[in-house]
Amino acid sequence: MSEIDSLKAQLKSLQDKALGLFAEAADLQALQDLRVNYLGKKGELTSVLKGVGKLPPEERPVIGQFVNATKGVLAEALEKAEQVLAAKASEARIEAERIDVTLAGRKCPQGALHPVQQGLNEMTAIFAQMGFEMAEGPEIEDEFHNFDALNIPQEHPARASHDTFFFNAEGEDEAMLLRTHTSPVQIRAMQACVDAGGEPPLAVVAAGRVYRCDYDVTHSPMFHQVEVFKVDKDVSLANLKGVLQHFLSAYFEKDVPIRLRPHYFPFTEPSAEVDIGCVFCNHKGCRICKGSGWIEVLGSGMIHPNVLKAVGIDSTVYSGFAFGLGVERLVMLKHGIPDLRLFFENDVRFLRRMGA
Ligand code: DAH
Repeated sequence: MSEIDSLKAQLKSLQDKALGLFAEAADLQALQDLRVNYLGKKGELTSVLKGVGKLPPEERPVIGQFVNATKGVLAEALEKAEQVLAAKASEARIEAERIDVTLAGRKCPQGALHPVQQGLNEMTAIFAQMGFEMAEGPEIEDEFHNFDALNIPQEHPARASHDTFFFNAEGEDEAMLLRTHTSPVQIRAMQACVDAGGEPPLAVVAAGRVYRCDYDVTHSPMFHQVEVFKVDKDVSLANLKGVLQHFLSAYFEKDVPIRLRPHYFPFTEPSAEVDIGCVFCNHKGCRICKGSGWIEVLGSGMIHPNVLKAVGIDSTVYSGFAFGLGVERLVMLKHGIPDLRLFFENDVRFLRRMGA
């Protein structure tokens, strides 16, 4: 074989071997090493070129072109292999850095309204829908609003049943008290109307804390009441019953039967306690309703003329109905809660179960 053919054959086999190695290179670093091995100054191609010196001068350009062509082929193959490996490396990195966005997040514990507040909101919302306006009164009351104006004068036996917390405010002669019911808001709302030169109709709902010195399974020294009243011309007991029927069915979310049972309250005449068909046995009679099928839920009546007189409303022109209910009691009945004290112990297990 002539010298030039042998060189050509060497170049060819070098190229084939190099292309094979390029294709097998595992990563960019391996490829870089191969580039140095083949195309570098001390690389294989250079060492083949050393043989060129032995050729006769006229053959040198021929082999020179051949070497350049081989160089070109190798350089191009390296470039391509680099691109493929670079793409693979980038894909691998993307895969490794992948974030699984479908993983469920950690939930923050969420607060909820206290069951008493929830019940209170539900109740006042029903009255608001019926057109009653919200009113508020102070928790620290005087005897006039809590008792006298409600037709409970000093020495009236009804005062004893209220277990009142009395105290003397500093520098004040008048004894103050924690309101024992929300009925004083009736007085304040009617007074505000009269003082502003207004006249009935008045339809008011008031809710809030009340206090009595009493504590057992069904009594707490602080509890909540909702008070509702309406004063207008020709307000009748039938209006009272209609409002009660609507309210109680809306609150218990079913058609509960109701009955008005004659009773006594100083601030209403006539007065009635209101019973609903027992929600535990569906009015059939059970341990909770003591077999009667009825459960007492609130006090009501037609506003006593003396109460209207106390605030300067003409009782010969206007009449009204009123009722007051215990919020905790109704929430207990609706949700079957056995002990009033659960509301005030703040046991999170109870609160969570009642949570919205
Ligand atoms: N204030 C009464 C109480 O706390 C409840 C009540 C009864 C309110 C009859 C009323 C009513 O407005 O008419 O025991």
